[in-house]
Amino acid sequence: MLEQLDAIYSQALARLDGLTDGEALAEWQRRYLGKKGEITLLLRATGTLPQEQRAAFGQRANALRDALSAAYTERATAVRQAELSRSLEEAPLDVTLPGRRVPVGGLHPTTQTLRQIYAIWAEMGFQVFRSRDVEDDDTNFTLLNIPPHHPARDMWDTFHTTTPGVILRTHTSPGQIRAMHTYGENGTQPIRVILPGMCYRYEQISARSEIQFNQVEGLATGRNIRLTDLKGTITEFARRMFGPDKRVRFRGSYFPFTEPSLEVDIECILCGGDGCPVCKYTGWIEIAGCGMVHPVVLQNGGYDPREWSGFAFGMGPERMTMNVHGIQDIRYFWQNDLRFLEQF
Ligand code: PHE
Repeated sequence: MLEQLDAIYSQALARLDGLTDGEALAEWQRRYLGKKGEITLLLRATGTLPQEQRAAFGQRANALRDALSAAYTERATAVRQAELSRSLEEAPLDVTLPGRRVPVGGLHPTTQTLRQIYAIWAEMGFQVFRSRDVEDDDTNFTLLNIPPHHPARDMWDTFHTTTPGVILRTHTSPGQIRAMHTYGENGTQPIRVILPGMCYRYEQISARSEIQFNQVEGLATGRNIRLTDLKGTITEFARRMFGPDKRVRFRGSYFPFTEPSLEVDIECILCGGDGCPVCKYTGWIEIAGCGMVHPVVLQNGGYDPREWSGFAFGMGPERMTMNVHGIQDIRYFWQNDLRFLEQF
């Protein structure tokens, strides 16, 4: 067996010398050193030798195996080098070629609208307040004057979680309560904030409604805030956002957390009021819901409604973006289709 071992060793070494490509090397490796390789099999057979020969044989076999491994590694490195220089010669590398351009992303159209909205409200003294997306039922509804089982809850189809009472916010209005608790210092400080962020509604998805969308809520509290302040402030915002000559109108509406409640329309951006498919031939486009903060909500936020008042509004940046660019389908916003996104 010892002669056999030496013979395999010399043969393997001789063959290794002639190998010039990676595939042949792998084949060689399998044949001699692999799991069923010739050297491996001999080593395993050590046990069949008479007791007194085993140690010497084992030692020798191990040494030869290590020598072959080392020779293999050396050869493999040389072959890899040779292959590399060969391929460089065959297809020379032009290091002066310009590199591949890394695609640069752009801002999502909604993000662009949001930033415009932030900038305008900032100029008017409103700070951004970030409120949570995952809300409790109390803050999303009850504290906003929508008690359990109140039919007004039907206005917001809700995503529930597996934890009872924990939901995805259906609007940014619960942020009003959180802002009052955070900034109000127990109902002693005036507040001017906007609260932007995603809202979630369990709705049939269509060209006009998605199950997730942004809102920008606004809240002002103070000692003498009146409906005229609300109307003036929103009108000023609309003019800065859509153009100084745009007409703005207010219509009576209903929200449980404002009293009185209004909806705000501006003259259609696309047709200027003449009537077109975007404004459904009315000449007007709805941009926000708003109203004077309901006394119950002020109270729940820690403010005494006999001394304090406030206004609130909620606007939809995706809807605004659709109106400005004449986008027909809200589903484009989250479809992640670059052909859509690259247009902005
Ligand atoms: N939260 C209301 C909605 O989602 C909008 C709104 C906000 C109305 C603030 C009035 C005041 O429809």
